[in-house]
Amino acid sequence: MSFKIVEQATPRLNRSELAVPGSNEKLFPKALDSAADVVFLDLEDAVAPDDKPQARKNIIKTLGAQDWSKKTVSVRINGLDTHFMYRDVVDVVEQAGGSLDLIMIPKVGTAADVYAVDMLVTQVEDAVGLDKRIGFELIIETALGMQNVHEISAASPRIESLHFGVADYAASTRARTTNIGGANPDYAMLTDADEAGGRDSHWGDMWHYAIACMVVAARANGLRPVDGPFGDFSDADGYRAAARRAAVLGCEGKWAIHPSQIGLANEEFSPSDAEVEKAKRVLAAMEQAQAEGKGAVALDGRLIDIASIRQAENLVRKAEQIGTA
Ligand code: GLV
Ligand code: MG
Repeated sequence: MSFKIVEQATPRLNRSELAVPGSNEKLFPKALDSAADVVFLDLEDAVAPDDKPQARKNIIKTLGAQDWSKKTVSVRINGLDTHFMYRDVVDVVEQAGGSLDLIMIPKVGTAADVYAVDMLVTQVEDAVGLDKRIGFELIIETALGMQNVHEISAASPRIESLHFGVADYAASTRARTTNIGGANPDYAMLTDADEAGGRDSHWGDMWHYAIACMVVAARANGLRPVDGPFGDFSDADGYRAAARRAAVLGCEGKWAIHPSQIGLANEEFSPSDAEVEKAKRVLAAMEQAQAEGKGAVALDGRLIDIASIRQAENLVRKAEQIGTA
């Protein structure tokens, strides 16, 4: 290990993160009763400019009137390049900050963006005497944000998680797609021709680099990496595949832009019984190996060593958090 100890952000389950437009009050009770680990009430892109003041009022009302304490609840504020943002922070934190766990900051481009919001939130928290510190979720969804993701991740102790905003990222990088997430048949290579002249097209994951960069920056700073939206909510298999590949890379969860995606995310980001069982066997085998003074042993015909303990502990800890260990 390095001499530098990476402090871990407040641990929370973040397998599914449900997006709910702040302008649509009817959806709030459903979100509250849903199985989503985190709900974010949106003031940004799901809300039309003319509806933003009312959406703010709706969010303040529900945070005061309903008991959100059993849910992790976040509010996505508007970007720092808009005149909506300061009032999102001031009004929501002043009037409902005590019920809020997280603020989601979209389109973060530099560490100074986070610093600016931190300053504002700190002033409001101090002024109203909030004893709980509100955490930050940052969306990495621009070329600038991705370029600066390492400095951004270390910009404030309030930061808990990084989110990959694939739709805005595609727009910012001018990727040739109009989908929100998912695969693109043009991101493919052809195999050499077989004997009959046939060639297969192998699709790749055009988001791999971005997600992998975000995961590294997040983990190097003790934060949760979370994959963003998958727009085609009628394609459950496509969603599952996208979630599974994000989980394999180290993400802890994925957004749900439709209630039908919540259960899919919860399943895909929970270790299976077989995985937990295997992890426990790894831990038991390594405990015995260490008692015998060995650093590595074979289990089921494969090498396991001290790094395997850390992998297995991650899995068992996650299952404990979910309550399935
Ligand atoms: C989310 O905000 C996205 O742009 O994908
Ligand atoms: Mg976005």
